[in-house]
Amino acid sequence: MLAGDDPPVYLDNACMPMKPEPVLRAMDNYYRNFPTCGGRSLHKLAFDVTEHYETARGQLQRFVGAADSSEIVFTRNTTEAINIVAWGLDLERGDTVLTSDREHNSNVIPWHVLRERTGVRYAVVPSRDDVYFDLEALKEALTPDVKLASFVHTSNLDGYTLPAREIAEICHDAGALVMLDAAQSAAHTEVDAQKLDVDFLAASAHKFCGPSGTGLLYGKAEALAALKPTFAGGSTVRNSTYDGCEFLPPPSCFEAGLQNYGGMIGAGAAADYVDGVGRDEIHAHEVALNRRLTKQLAGMEGLSLLGPPEAEGRGGIFSFNLAGLDGHEIAMDLDESANIAIRSGMHCVHSWFNSRGIKGSARASFYMYNTAEEADLFADALEETQRTLGGSAGAPRREEQSFA
Ligand code: ALA
Repeated sequence: MLAGDDPPVYLDNACMPMKPEPVLRAMDNYYRNFPTCGGRSLHKLAFDVTEHYETARGQLQRFVGAADSSEIVFTRNTTEAINIVAWGLDLERGDTVLTSDREHNSNVIPWHVLRERTGVRYAVVPSRDDVYFDLEALKEALTPDVKLASFVHTSNLDGYTLPAREIAEICHDAGALVMLDAAQSAAHTEVDAQKLDVDFLAASAHKFCGPSGTGLLYGKAEALAALKPTFAGGSTVRNSTYDGCEFLPPPSCFEAGLQNYGGMIGAGAAADYVDGVGRDEIHAHEVALNRRLTKQLAGMEGLSLLGPPEAEGRGGIFSFNLAGLDGHEIAMDLDESANIAIRSGMHCVHSWFNSRGIKGSARASFYMYNTAEEADLFADALEETQRTLGGSAGAPRREEQSFA
């Protein structure tokens, strides 16, 4: 956990959790003992790098349930993974990409750029009024021109998890490829790409205790083979001349240039660490904390909650507004007066907030190491913040769920 005399109560885990010792040790081992380049030179140090790097690929393969390690492409983050698919599919004018209405910018902005540059259509499936995903609206939106359906798995906005398996089945029946943004889910619940039957899956290792700026793209072997490399260059080709080149097969053709060896070795260690604790156990622990917090704050005047009213539907995320107060004011006051770290704002899900005319929310998010005592500290501090800042109680906004 955090060094220092007075570490905060850290409840910004949906953004990025802390890094455990095995992750630090794995990176330290690389930087101290073989801090060189993999896949090129023939000296012993280089072999060490390649061996550890490919071990990490295998660790990530197991973590997301891929059939083979060659289906794992190392990336900097979920955003890069989604962009590799966005540009690699070679979509044409009139082809449509479909997403839900609660997507992170990582799964919105690439489609805006593609629309502007290539004429690809971008369409959105609206949620039901009660915040849950609308399978009927999905069926209606799946016109024959939809080539890719790209959905968030667990929303960083409110913790709601979409029914990914059903979504994939419906989209495949309609002839669309399916990509899952597992940035938020992979750290907290079992994510098995084969069981979910998605063609692509994007995740950020820094969200499951890995080093910052590490992530992955999973693709079914045939789906990856059909993608064109967007970032091309060093170590993506078997051979080249002034006239052309012969690309290596996936995943190498997508990993251009000298790679983040230390980072990905740390990411592999993070995957093993999280699965060593157990994602079912992590999920149950977070839900228990969220249930406790939800119950404790149920009577708070002017409090409105984003997402499903029951804690089970929100995992470890408690995203809320207090009538009369701005989310940033709440976050800053909690930081200054109670040493509690949360996040505030639109959480990179601008489209969802803007479409509802909401300025944002304050968001506390739990992980495996948070305790019941910390949940209670947060509840007490929030009440104190409301007293101090003088938020006036008012009716929750229509779009937000009030406590049942
Ligand atoms: N997606 C990250 C968050 O929700 C940045 O905080």
